[in-house]
Order: sequence, then C-alpha cells, then structure tokens
Amino acid sequence: MNPTERMLRACRGEPVDRPPVWLMRQAGRYLPEYRRAREGVPFLEMCRRVDKAVEVSLQPLRLLGVEAVILFSDIFVPVAGLGVAVDFEPGPVVRDPIRSLDQVAALRTPDPRESVPFVMEILRVLRRELEPTKVPLLGFAGAPFTLAAYLIEGRGSKDFATLKRMMYRAPEVLRALLARLTEMTVAYLNAQIEAGAQVVQLFDTWAGLLSPADYAAWVQPSHLEIASKVERVRAPLILYVNNGAHVLDAMLASGADVLSLDWRVDIGLAAKRAGARASLQGNLDPCALAAPAERIAQLVREIADAAAPARGHVLNLGHGVLPETPVGGVRAFVEAAKALPVRGPS
Ligand code: CP3
Repeated sequence: MNPTERMLRACRGEPVDRPPVWLMRQAGRYLPEYRRAREGVPFLEMCRRVDKAVEVSLQPLRLLGVEAVILFSDIFVPVAGLGVAVDFEPGPVVRDPIRSLDQVAALRTPDPRESVPFVMEILRVLRRELEPTKVPLLGFAGAPFTLAAYLIEGRGSKDFATLKRMMYRAPEVLRALLARLTEMTVAYLNAQIEAGAQVVQLFDTWAGLLSPADYAAWVQPSHLEIASKVERVRAPLILYVNNGAHVLDAMLASGADVLSLDWRVDIGLAAKRAGARASLQGNLDPCALAAPAERIAQLVREIADAAAPARGHVLNLGHGVLPETPVGGVRAFVEAAKALPVRGPS
C-alpha cells in the first residue's frame, strides 16, 4: 500500500494496513532547516515565493518521513484577495478590522486562481516533486468562522469578545461576512483540488469558543455548505475544530469525511459515536512530543488502539507542532506510527 492509497483509504473509511501519519504545522520553527530557509524572509514572502514554500513544505518529508505533505501557507493568505490588508506579527493582524455592513459589501470576491496564483503553482510543483514518492499532497483553508474571528477582532485573542458581541449587537454584519467567506473558501479549496491537492483540511480553530447552540447557528451552516460544494469525490475533506469536544455531534453531521480532534476528546468514545459516518484524525497533545521516545511510542500505540474501532484513523497531533518542540520528539512520533502492527491488508 503506497502512502497516497493509505491516506485516501483511511479518510474514506476503507481498510488499511495501519494509520498514515503527518502533523499539523509540521513545517515550522521547531525545524532548524525551516529557520534557516526563513532567515531574512518575511513570513508572507515565504508563502508567496514558490521556491521557498516548496522547499519548506518538503522538509518534514525529507527530514522526518511524514506520510503526507501539506502546502506551506497560512489561512490568511487568500484574505488579501478580498481586499483586506493582513500583516503577521507573528499572528495575523488586520489593519482595518471589519465592523460594518459597508465594509463587508466592499469586499471583493476574486477567483483564487487570479488573486493567489502562487498557491496553485506551489501545489502543482509539489505534486510533481511528490510523484515518485507517492506521498499525498494536502491543501487547506481557514474556516469562515475562524477567519471572521480575526477579521472582526483585528488580531488573535483569548476569548474573541468583540466577535462574540457582534453575534448579539450586529448579527447581520457577522452573517453577511460569514456568507462571503464561505463562498471564498469553497472556491479556494476547489481551486486547490484542481491544482493537485489530494486531501483538503478546513481549520476552524476558534469555533470551539461557542456554546453548542451558537455553534449550530453560526458555524454549522458554513461547514455544511463547504462539505456539499467542495469536490470531496476528488479530495476528501478533513474538518478540524479546536476545543470542540462539546460539538462532536455537530461535527459528525457536517458532511466532512474526517474529523480532526484535539487531545481533550477521548478518541475511543469519538470512534464509537462516529461509527460509519466519519474517519478520525489526531489526537496527541503537541506538548507530549517533549517526552522520551519510548513514552511517545506508547502514547501512539494507545491512540491507535483507542481509535481502531473508527472506520478510519489518521495519526496526527491534537493541534499544530509548537515552535519549542524537540525534533527528536517529532521523529519518534512518526517512527512509532510506522512501527504499528499491521491490521488490515498491506
Ligand atoms: O501545517 C502546516 O505545516 C502548514 C502551514 C500552516 C501555517 N499556518 C503556517 C504558519 C497552517 C495550516 C496554518 C494554519 C493557521 N494559521 C491556523 C489554523 C490552525 C491552527 O494552528 O490553529 C491559524 C489560526 C493561523 C493563523 C496564524 N498564523 C497564527 C495564529 C500565527 C502565529 C502563531 C504562530 O504559530 O506563529 C500564524 C503564523 C504562521 N503560520 C507561522 C507558520 C509556520 C509562523 C510564522 C513564522 O515562521 O514566523
């Protein structure tokens, strides 16, 4: 079974020999090679320069043997096409936060193939480079709610209170913004699939801030629309919600092929709840990569065993790799996954 088959089959809930393994934020500052490639290059330029983005996308494959390569970019890259200026310090900072209907109406709805052509070029080059290895290429996008959170708040926040107040004081502004972002996200993911992405992941990092009722009202509709309009037959869709243990049933009803779970979720219970509806991805606490290699291997076996009743499982962390993570911990994680006993057909 080659890595592409393993990944696609796991996502679709077809039998595999063992779970495939990759890590969210696998290309990043914990790697000395990434820091070297980034020296003197602003983050947004890293995302725009095809040679740089290709180089750092491939680093985790070359250095650590991960079994999927994710496009190096950021969820805020396509937002420039809407006409919104975003800087990175290092988190996204919006110069002119969106607070009114007029600002939403002024947003452009560009064709991502024209507004961010370099993203599609990076994907095409990566697909060509990956062809001999048969390692699958992943694309991604930020989910509308998480993008809206930063666009309204202006920058990262612990509770995104400005955004939450808007739900009560100016719901029509938030509703209009989410509609525009949903449309953009569908077009962006489909353009990535056309350019060669074989799986796509939707990152809804901040949706877990909401109560189950607010999640149903403000988040679920955009997930349903995205899952129904993205070409999932060509590329399965992974949905990641951070801090989403309380909205697992809604995630299951989203139509996504795979649910990416953070470490607060008992993946064994989630597997039982999911049944045949979705595969699971996750869910080691990124901080656990600080443990000795044997301990990491044991945790990987425990997660794989607990997730075994799921229709499919992709080994990953519960959130992105942290900058201070030891490279040896990441390597131990990948190697432990590859050493798991064979279960199904090989
Ligand atoms: O997974 C990967 O390796 C692909 C690359 C990727 C990046 N950002 C690169 C990046 C992906 C998938 C993202 C997604 C992203 N970006 C999310 C959703 C997932 C998550 O982590 O919750 C969010 C919320 C963002 C917004 C963002 N971008 C923040 C909050 C930050 C600052 C915090 C941090 O980790 O530095 C960024 C900057 C960013 N995006 C960096 C990288 C490698 C660091 C920039 C640098 O190299 O200095």
